[in-house]
Amino acid sequence: MTDPTYVGAIDQGTTGTRFIVFDHGGQVVANAYEKHEQIYPEPGWVEHDPMEIWDATKSVVTTALGQAGISPDQLEAIGVTNQRETTLLWDADSGRPVHNAIVWQDRRTTDRVEQLESEGMVEEIREKTGLEADAYFSATKAEWLLENADPIKLERSRPEDIRDRAAQGEVLFGTIDSWLIYNLTGNHITEVTNASRTMLYNIHDLEWDDDLLAEFGVPEEMLPEVRPSSDDQTYGTTDPDGFLEAEVPVAGALGDQQAALFGQTCFDPGEAKNTYGTGSFFLMNTGEEAVESDHGLLTTIGFQRSGEPVQYALEGSIFITGAAIEWLEDVSLIDDPAETAELARSVDSTDGVYVVPAFTGLGAPHWDQRARGTILGMTRGTRKEHIVRATLESIAYQTRDVAEAMEADSGIEMTSLKVDGGAVKNNYLCQLQADIIGSEISRPVVDETTALGSAYAAGLAVGYWDDVEGLRDNWQVDREFEPEMNADAADRMYARWSDAVDRSRDWARD
Ligand code: G3P
Repeated sequence: MTDPTYVGAIDQGTTGTRFIVFDHGGQVVANAYEKHEQIYPEPGWVEHDPMEIWDATKSVVTTALGQAGISPDQLEAIGVTNQRETTLLWDADSGRPVHNAIVWQDRRTTDRVEQLESEGMVEEIREKTGLEADAYFSATKAEWLLENADPIKLERSRPEDIRDRAAQGEVLFGTIDSWLIYNLTGNHITEVTNASRTMLYNIHDLEWDDDLLAEFGVPEEMLPEVRPSSDDQTYGTTDPDGFLEAEVPVAGALGDQQAALFGQTCFDPGEAKNTYGTGSFFLMNTGEEAVESDHGLLTTIGFQRSGEPVQYALEGSIFITGAAIEWLEDVSLIDDPAETAELARSVDSTDGVYVVPAFTGLGAPHWDQRARGTILGMTRGTRKEHIVRATLESIAYQTRDVAEAMEADSGIEMTSLKVDGGAVKNNYLCQLQADIIGSEISRPVVDETTALGSAYAAGLAVGYWDDVEGLRDNWQVDREFEPEMNADAADRMYARWSDAVDRSRDWARD
């Protein structure tokens, strides 16, 4: 009897790296995870060490395979999915990063973005890239690195040499997908959904945009080749003499939010999902049409299969949701995120307390780089239970903010929303979400939909799976949550939330 075969997915997220092996039914057969350090060199700055990320990647791959007794030769393909926008440069000779990666949450380029606003660039950026001009995206991070990367780490180089060397293709730019694909295969490649988050890529022409490259001083020679999310040609293979000791095709990649859209089998226009991770990212497939938003959403690339047109999506990017729960732990209001449901249930309401977790500014639909975290409505009787409950409610309210924008932009009334991500294990949160949003919440059995989406992309490319329609059969519901709260009550609570958001805005002025 021949050994069964599988597809592996590397899921490189903001807080850690996971490797999951899936079988043909889309079930998890091996899973390993490692955290990495969050580096905060200055207030508002967030960095990751790319070597630590690569080391963690190798470690989770070998651990998961070892624990499940799976040989690397049983992997028919590997897919990659990743925290998006996070930007790094590395030396093409040595393969060493020239600086820590600048994480998507980092705010160091806020002033530069405001300069873009005063230069009147915002409309051009929106038209070409589908994005709001914001420090969130890669372009201003790449520009900062080209100007400030520590030259000591760049062998044979003087500070002013970095941009020159980049123009010779000796220093390379990449988002985390590129960094992993480069280390796995030796090829400098990105894929189209990740490219669409750089603010350098024209999502209509499907090309790096010369004007934007000139604006940010990014030499084209340092950019990766852009490939489909599911690539029949493959991005390359792992090195049989490398850590895996096998030649496995790396054949699919997607930014993590697009991967979740794919893993939730949202293949058709109108299908939507919301993922609750560090932040929450609400994406709706809009098919071959790049729908422009009038309500503060992003137009982005959803996925592309080899030889097929690009599928677009509307996205509501909420920067802080799960990270707000981590913050409760950081400030010792809770010992463990698992306590939050019980603490929240132990009080009848927040007693008028609202938490706006705008720690890194506000994303969709508000787009305020200078908003900051705010707690309102406290009295002498406020207890930590109220703050915990208000923090959970903030996750549900922020999702309603983007859901309303999504309905207004798409004209589609939402009746059901597929959810995934770590926080949806919390039944209290799922019920709260259904109540606040006023529609059904549908949680799948396999909640690792991000990894699953990239496994699907890679597996489709190598013929492990035949077509997307067959993948729909793998999707099974775990539980559905129906709205139970009176809609008027939900509306009143939500109206107060909007007041609270207003008060958090424009706080971090010089
Ligand atoms: O755009 C940022 C997003 O891709 C990060 O996702 O799950 O790593 O917080 P996550």
